[in-house]
Amino acid sequence: MSVPLPPDQIFAVLRAPSWQIDTRFAGKDLISIEQLRASSVRRILAVADHLENLPPAYQKPILTDINIAVLFYQPSTRTYFSFMRAGQLLGANVIGIHGMDNFSSAYKGETLIDTVRTIEALATDIIVLRHFDDDSALIAANATSVPIINAGSGKLEHPTQALLDLRTILVETGQPSVEGLTVLFVGDLKNGRTVHSLSKLLALMGCRRFIFDSPPQLKMPRNLVDQLALQDVVIEETNNLPLAVQYADVIYDTRVQKEWFRSDADYQQAKDSQQITPAIMSEAKSTAVLMHPLPRVDEISPDVDADPRAAYFRQVNHGLAIRKALLALISGRMS
Ligand code: NCD
Repeated sequence: MSVPLPPDQIFAVLRAPSWQIDTRFAGKDLISIEQLRASSVRRILAVADHLENLPPAYQKPILTDINIAVLFYQPSTRTYFSFMRAGQLLGANVIGIHGMDNFSSAYKGETLIDTVRTIEALATDIIVLRHFDDDSALIAANATSVPIINAGSGKLEHPTQALLDLRTILVETGQPSVEGLTVLFVGDLKNGRTVHSLSKLLALMGCRRFIFDSPPQLKMPRNLVDQLALQDVVIEETNNLPLAVQYADVIYDTRVQKEWFRSDADYQQAKDSQQITPAIMSEAKSTAVLMHPLPRVDEISPDVDADPRAAYFRQVNHGLAIRKALLALISGRMS
């Protein structure tokens, strides 16, 4: 088994002009937030709004004859289902394989490169990929001319989740931009790919105040903190949830990522260190928005679900709008 490229090397590749996406998406791979500019993000949001707000009579199957393969090597409920559904709603032919590591030839030892080349040979226009290696989406993109949409690569990135999170923040706060907001990230900031992608996306869109609240062993990776600080983001790192929630416009909670822990004892020690409860929410602003990419385990008490500030199930729905927009843009059926 080859060792995945380290994050710095992956990002160095993706910052090259040939990987950057401006406002022309047709045929492009979406692997990382590093490829995006504010203009490209605004375009995705505008297309998502457009597709969501079309009156029923104007909703057309614009992806007829587009063949989409949704290949997942890691578990998923929302991301898998919403990519499948987004493609279907736009009239595409969508084939999904969940559990690729057990049910594809990967189980027999086939490499990711050979798998995506096989899928390419079978008349495929877009591949949506979730895989446990940080560099998986980059490796796949280099192996095929079929556009790759990264639906989660290792601990590194989850760009489509970040885009749907951004749309959720704008809709829930009612703000025209994220510029004035203070965003609190809570939980497993070391291993969680959603917080890595979202913090970069928010910084790109002008957000300048982050609070990172985690136990000491689950802090945001140092190179990412440094990168954000270079973009003039003011960052506070803490492990004091009742205090931190008082300052937040957005509270973005995450699961402690059991699958990346070396021992169960380490996981057990970390897992219950921070829980959002009604008592914690009583410290938060009345206008705060509580988000979570889900799945939630114990880090948000179910008693919080009825709180109108709890936006995590509304957040799921934004996934459909964003994924429809990305499929329409990358297939070239919208520009
Ligand atoms: C996240 C993921 O897979 O990274 N889930 C998701 O896509 N909504 C978060 C997680 O697994 O904790």
